[in-house]
Amino acid sequence: MATAEQIKSLIKSHYNSDKEKFHTLSLQLAAHEAKKGHTSLAHEIRDIIDKSQQNKIKSTISFLPELGGLVITRTSVAKKASLVINTKLKDRIIRIITEYRQQNKLKSFGLKHRRKILLAGPPGTGKTMTANILAGELNIPIHTIQVDRLLTKFMGESSAKLRQIFELIEKSPGVYLFDEFDAIGGERTLENDVGEMRRVLNSFLQFIEQDTSDSLIIAATNNPHMLDHALFRRFDDVLFYERPDKEECKQLIQNILGTFITNRFAWKKVLQESEGLSHSELSNACQDAIKQAILFDKKEVNASLLLQMLQERQGTLSAKK
Ligand SMILES: Nc1ncnc2c1ncn2[C@@H]1O[C@H](COP(=O)(O)OP(=O)(O)OP(=O)(O)O)[C@@H](O)[C@H]1O
Ligand SMILES: [Mg+2]
Repeated sequence: MATAEQIKSLIKSHYNSDKEKFHTLSLQLAAHEAKKGHTSLAHEIRDIIDKSQQNKIKSTISFLPELGGLVITRTSVAKKASLVINTKLKDRIIRIITEYRQQNKLKSFGLKHRRKILLAGPPGTGKTMTANILAGELNIPIHTIQVDRLLTKFMGESSAKLRQIFELIEKSPGVYLFDEFDAIGGERTLENDVGEMRRVLNSFLQFIEQDTSDSLIIAATNNPHMLDHALFRRFDDVLFYERPDKEECKQLIQNILGTFITNRFAWKKVLQESEGLSHSELSNACQDAIKQAILFDKKEVNASLLLQMLQERQGTLSAKK
């Protein structure tokens, strides 16, 4: 059976309306019972937890038909350990998680957790992944807003749609990701400005300012220079992503190759060839090398196989330039 401490904490978290704590404690309880050999009880507890999570998602999706495919809702199991970034950036992400988890504590002092976040940086450096990790770590659904569709499919009514999205943000706590945000975030005075884009941006600025929900609102962009200055001050935090340095490349390769990596690996050459690639390109090169190894019945990926895949990626990169 659960310990007296576990039962007391569980009851306390329920009365404090600390859903996150309640969820974590329930998972711990299931793990505790499994360890003691009470596997069927452990399974039953896990089932109750899983069903309640699914119901949470279903109740969110029921808001969505009127949004006509503008918002895609998913659950995420991504965890922060898989993200390879510098420590400063990781600390900032951990701070978002910690403040969200302890929002009630902050509320009791009249403070609000940081939750309007702008992620900026080159393609394939982990912005979308970060939004998924926030949802996965916090056990809340992630809703991705198709920003480009907002402007194309809903031309003329995009501000009204945006209002509905912000109503959803208020009603149903989760991570709300405005991906490829430059589509609406471009500077209002730029010459290529279309009236519709300006209207949507103005609405966005107004809605995000007024928003007092508990949800995390995340905007991701490749092009921070294009973003309107009025936007920057609407966010609680702006995180800048960069391509991996040598140390990060090494860590990423080790993470992905895992047990496939050979003992004596020619790191120097591999790291030289990795230079300039994004996390995403590097990770794809590693996956390609693993696939080749499997197809040719090899148990390991040696440096020359990875080098070949990296060179292919470098070739694609220079062809794009
Ligand atoms: N910092 C990172 N650490 C580990 N893996 C990463 C990282 N960044 C990217 N990846 C890998 O690359 C994939 C694509 O990255 P992601 O979609 O997060 O990039 P992005 O920054 O959102 O790019 P874009 O600007 O093109 O939308 C991820 O699913 C992951 O496999
Ligand atoms: Mg992305």
